[in-house]
Amino acid sequence: MRTRILRGRLLWFVDDPFTMGDAPSHRYAPDGALLVADGRIAAAGEAQDVLAQAPAGTHVDDHRPHLILPGFIDTHIHFPQTHVIASYGEQLLDWLNRYTFVEEQKYADPAHAARQAQFFCDELLRQGTTTAVVYSSVHAAATEALFVAAAGRGMRIAAGKVMMDRNAPEALRDTPEEGYRESKALIARWHGRGRAQYVISPRFAITSTEAQLEAAGTLLREHPDCLAQTHMSENLGEIAAVRSLFPGMADYSSVYERFGLLSPRTLLGHCIHLAPEEWDRLAAQGAVAVHCPTSNLFIGSGLFDFAAALDRARPVRLSLATDVGGGTSYSMLRTAAEAYKVAQLRGFNLSPFAALHLMTRGNALAMGLDGVIGSFAPGAEADAVVLDSHAIPALAHRMETVRDLAEELFALITLGDERCVRATYVMGELANPP
Ligand code: GUN
Ligand code: ZN
Repeated sequence: MRTRILRGRLLWFVDDPFTMGDAPSHRYAPDGALLVADGRIAAAGEAQDVLAQAPAGTHVDDHRPHLILPGFIDTHIHFPQTHVIASYGEQLLDWLNRYTFVEEQKYADPAHAARQAQFFCDELLRQGTTTAVVYSSVHAAATEALFVAAAGRGMRIAAGKVMMDRNAPEALRDTPEEGYRESKALIARWHGRGRAQYVISPRFAITSTEAQLEAAGTLLREHPDCLAQTHMSENLGEIAAVRSLFPGMADYSSVYERFGLLSPRTLLGHCIHLAPEEWDRLAAQGAVAVHCPTSNLFIGSGLFDFAAALDRARPVRLSLATDVGGGTSYSMLRTAAEAYKVAQLRGFNLSPFAALHLMTRGNALAMGLDGVIGSFAPGAEADAVVLDSHAIPALAHRMETVRDLAEELFALITLGDERCVRATYVMGELANPP
């Protein structure tokens, strides 16, 4: 058995701060340790207890006085947009046509895709992100290249080729049959292989015909352990276009519901401009609303409404993600900082515990992987990030007046970025720095 100990200030979540409040939601061990055995958590808690359980001779990676958290999880990011991030001056539909669809055509070349996949995975690890739910391009071979790069690094990646059969350049269009067949072949080849998972990925209602949405719904039914992802109600022009493309439908979420795509396994990017009955529909179906704050600010889409999602008889499941390249940072810390500001503009306080919960256990729950990733529960996969809350001069300076853990975490989120990431572990192995 291969064992290792990570020692430092351990912080992880056992419940949801949105429903339980901050204090009971987390566990904090100021002199803590993690015992990893064959890539999984064997024990987590006070160092003296954990060290006593470790087999003699177990190596200790001593990260004191830094924080050790479960590796971050990003539930919405676009692999072919690493050259799109920071593209100027457009809102969603023009941004897609002017920048995104141009760049995504390059992924027809598997060698290009393979090169970009190396960058993509390395960059996630540099940011402390050990799991991501990823949109690939329409190309099966590009999607394959991403799975290969992730497997080479031991990362848990859930990804899918986008399905698009209209309102996109010819070179980026599949057909309902091709989309179905290629997705199915990728599922057969990759889903459940090592840590790879397949995500059925109709891009959004504008770029899929009814026949293709039908095929996507069929795939979701046929593969009960695959996730699905799409975009919804991000931008007002998008919503108007969906209304004219689907004139018989009451609203945007009804389109996805009609094709069986609102499910507990569906991750819905953005969900900004939803009517109350649409929030109810999401809650009733158990679908997840994925908030992507840096993207929503950058593309000028709107302000996500936490209170509308949470303050209802049945709260909507929530998730937090970067949405690179509409999003402007790969960092989940930067993403949480912008989520706080967006929430402020909507009159909602996002506590540092709630934000860190979303980035770890909350996003694991969104993926249906509670207890597998996102926590230090015994048996969980030992993905971890080591964070230095003094890594940046202004942050170290701020720490001089911090009085407790909550204040430290809030300053770390607000001022921190990948400079605070001292190490990233996947399945108990050091993955960054390499
Ligand atoms: N809606 C459909 N495709 C996309 C995309 O690539 N990025 C964002 N932000 N929204 C989308
Ligand atoms: Zn997106």
